[in-house]
Amino acid sequence: MKDIKKENLMEKIVSLCKRRGFIFPGSEIYGGLANSWDYGPLGVELKNNIKQLWWKKFVQERDDIVGIDAALIMNPKVWEASGHLKNFSDALIECKHCHHRFRTDSLAMDKGRYVCADCNGRDFTEAKGFNLMLKTFLGPSEDASNIVYFRPETAQGMFVDFKNVLNTSRKQIPFGIAQIGKAFRNEITPGNFIFRTREFEQMEIEYFIGEADWKKYFEYWRKQMIDWIKGLGIDIKKIHEREVPESDRAHYSKRTIDFDYEFPFGANELYGLAYRTDFDLKNHEKSSGQNLKYKDPKTGEEFWPHVIEPTFGLDRSVLVALLEAYREEKDPAKNGASRIVLKLTSKLAPYKVAVFPLLANKPELVKTAKNVYDSLKTQFMTTWDDRGNVGKRYYSQDEIGTPWCVTVDFGSLEDKKVTVRDRDTMKQERVAIENLADYFNKKLNV
Ligand code: GAP
Repeated sequence: MKDIKKENLMEKIVSLCKRRGFIFPGSEIYGGLANSWDYGPLGVELKNNIKQLWWKKFVQERDDIVGIDAALIMNPKVWEASGHLKNFSDALIECKHCHHRFRTDSLAMDKGRYVCADCNGRDFTEAKGFNLMLKTFLGPSEDASNIVYFRPETAQGMFVDFKNVLNTSRKQIPFGIAQIGKAFRNEITPGNFIFRTREFEQMEIEYFIGEADWKKYFEYWRKQMIDWIKGLGIDIKKIHEREVPESDRAHYSKRTIDFDYEFPFGANELYGLAYRTDFDLKNHEKSSGQNLKYKDPKTGEEFWPHVIEPTFGLDRSVLVALLEAYREEKDPAKNGASRIVLKLTSKLAPYKVAVFPLLANKPELVKTAKNVYDSLKTQFMTTWDDRGNVGKRYYSQDEIGTPWCVTVDFGSLEDKKVTVRDRDTMKQERVAIENLADYFNKKLNV
């Protein structure tokens, strides 16, 4: 693989995403909206594949976790009780020279003083807490009584719905509630493409346990998260677990580990694991007056369960999947011409199969190829391409990560077989048309 300079890699990914329909700048026809991004036809497939894998692994294949999909805008009292209105802030300072604003933790220090990332100045205003909650109004009048907030984490849905879920699912601890959905934060320094935005998606689990077991389950979820990271095709050597010191931990957490990934712009948080104690349920009970305790069916003891929270940023997962998959390679079959390949795992790839007729102007080839395409597309995300020559079509599919290309040629009309070309090995083999679905199913389920 050609060594791609770290600083170039982000540019290449952003450019590929735009060129091939993974991710576009948001509101582009109006000049864009800073740091907002839209997922295009291929990006939404990749993102949905990650969501589906996550949901399958952590909800559908387990007996102890159920899912919910809560409202984005919740009663503002939720955010009072959760402590977000008071504590969910970043320390903000302004450079007295260029008047640009920064999060204190994003700046380098020199001899005990912050250094402005834009003008190198050393003179700053006093740090002020800047609340990250995004506000709006519900209803026709914009007065204080109508202020509501877009949720800054999906987690509160799980706490607020805790009793309803418990009563309807009749789960016993240890059990979890999972959710995938949007979160909003009025970030001071968004940037690095989809790494830090003001609107993003999270995949979160609140896992309810007895207090005595918190260390055991913290360790259990640490391993589960590593397992998930490996399943995404991420090189585990680029993941660094970081114990977050008390001074940097969220107000609700007694212990947090961040899973940092070596992004091209530096190691930074991909996912987090927190021990939230009984902070949330206890405060919601106090604030709502509703009993949010769990009753042990054997002992009759009532208590607030403690919570281990594995949290996974979905957009950061997409970014890391793309960064890990991007390759520039020489193709020995083409006199060393270089190709761009996205080596996404086949489960993540937007399209699993591309079908081509060898020549677009031969109706008998097109007809057979269409039949193959129609039979495959009901089972696998399949695409059709009849432009240019087969070599160009292969390169085009490589660039978007399609693991297999199927070509119908003149031989196919005789022997009812097609050529299947593998993205990674570039090897080709003949497979009977009637066996194609089995062939791909086997490959996908390895
Ligand atoms: N409920 C806990 C919680 O929200 P967090 O560390 O603030 O914890 C969880 O966020 C995950 O959400 C992060 O690990 C990251 O993957 C993702 N995330 C946080 N802020 C983000 C942002 N501004 N843009 C994109 N993803 C973000």
